[in-house]
Amino acid sequence: MTIDTPPAGSRGRTLLGELFPGARLIVAANRSPFRLTFGVRGEERWERPAGGVTAALDPLLRQTGGLWVAAEPGEPQELKVPPEDPTYNVSVLGVPEEVYRGYYVGYANSGLWPLCHNLVERAHFRSSDWVAYRQVNRQFAARIASEARPNDLIWVHDYQLALVPGYLRQFGVSGPIAFFWHIPWPPTVVLRLVPERKMLLQGLLEADWIGFQTEESVDAFAAAARRELGVRSQRTAHGVTLLYQGHRTHVASVPISIDVEKVEELARTEYAEHLLVDLRRRWKLGEDSVLLLGVDRLDYTKGIPERLEGFSRLLSRYPSLRGKAHFLQIAVPTRTEISDYRRLALSVRRKAASINRRFGEPGWQPVRLIEHNLRLERLVVLYRLADVAVVSSLYDGLNLVAKEYVAARVDGDGSLCLSETAGAYHELRSAFPLSPLSSERIAESMARAIFASPEERRERMQSLRDAVQRNTVDTWLSRVLTGVRGSVDDQLSGVKETPV
Ligand code: G6P
Repeated sequence: MTIDTPPAGSRGRTLLGELFPGARLIVAANRSPFRLTFGVRGEERWERPAGGVTAALDPLLRQTGGLWVAAEPGEPQELKVPPEDPTYNVSVLGVPEEVYRGYYVGYANSGLWPLCHNLVERAHFRSSDWVAYRQVNRQFAARIASEARPNDLIWVHDYQLALVPGYLRQFGVSGPIAFFWHIPWPPTVVLRLVPERKMLLQGLLEADWIGFQTEESVDAFAAAARRELGVRSQRTAHGVTLLYQGHRTHVASVPISIDVEKVEELARTEYAEHLLVDLRRRWKLGEDSVLLLGVDRLDYTKGIPERLEGFSRLLSRYPSLRGKAHFLQIAVPTRTEISDYRRLALSVRRKAASINRRFGEPGWQPVRLIEHNLRLERLVVLYRLADVAVVSSLYDGLNLVAKEYVAARVDGDGSLCLSETAGAYHELRSAFPLSPLSSERIAESMARAIFASPEERRERMQSLRDAVQRNTVDTWLSRVLTGVRGSVDDQLSGVKETPV
């Protein structure tokens, strides 16, 4: 297969070329950034799934070119994307339905996902799901091994694919392997609930470099590797080096980011300005209205019912906001094969309806729920429209919505209420902090944001914008690539320090 390369001179490509001369980038991530289906008359229909990993990696692959390997139940597909101006290739592995269920619905999303978010009572581990998980991880590795040249850079993503580095080595791949774990890594006592934790760790430790969103996750991973496998570890200036069976893995905290320039550009277009005026008029948002906004996949880790309960408390506590405050919740359906997710969708709808019944008046319905994905072009307009964005995840690897909101506020106004347990909080300390399991605290955080003086709002937003501009998706890429280069060089030179 020929892997397309984008025009010379794009930023990511230049950096990749400098650090890994002649290398192509091969990304493995469960979800494909594009889906192609066909209508009844055979017409092409392209979909772009939601989710942090695709949101961050698609702009990257557009710059670097290369190959993205993903998986879906059913038939395989080979695509050139984005469809309007192809710059990279996508290879979607076809996985038998039953196997995909065990791997995706089962092991990854009913086991690892809730567990890594410390929601242990939701997690289930079944042996048959583990068999399917291994099988799909092997399939990824086999596809990549058949494609990779010795110096290509292979970059594997997230909890669905923990075994891929191990299988790649078994298939004889000796080139550089990076792994990025996008969700939180759980504390050791929680990890001990995973029956196959040793094999997961062994698979991951075949990578040369592993990135996490926070220092907390780096420390928890190093502790798990020491405790479960007796791995030796050493702190370095950039994180921790782990030595396991003669192989070194560098582990670092490198929080992911967004294409800040692109979001800013989209927030400034004529289309955005028009839509802004149009929505204000259609939604009757006057001078004294307050629009609060939530944008999430409909996932129980995002704390959506708790957030709506917080909004309800806000309306009880501040009667002056009745008739003026609106909560717009974009809730994108996700993983609907899993009953916990279907139950969540019902409970969010019920909660919204009960708030509207309780407080609504003719001409004012406090909660508006939109249950589908919106393209970034439209989303940035909602970000600009919203006086307050509310991110109240119970746990979150990072949360890119928080960063997108800040980047879209090219006017320097707007406030962010951000959960203290979202990874993004480490970088976005000027947000209004929010404690996601307490509806009183959520209401308090919203009230602080709403009633803050214009000076305070602007100061906080300026400092948030500085933080987001300091770490863009380009910075992230460059930190990852430099980290992997360093690990590979250490591996080759046998390194002087020995982890103890
Ligand atoms: C999170 C995970 C991703 C996942 C995304 C969407 O961001 O970290 O790995 O792709 O959610 O979830 P889905 O199950 O629809 O791919």
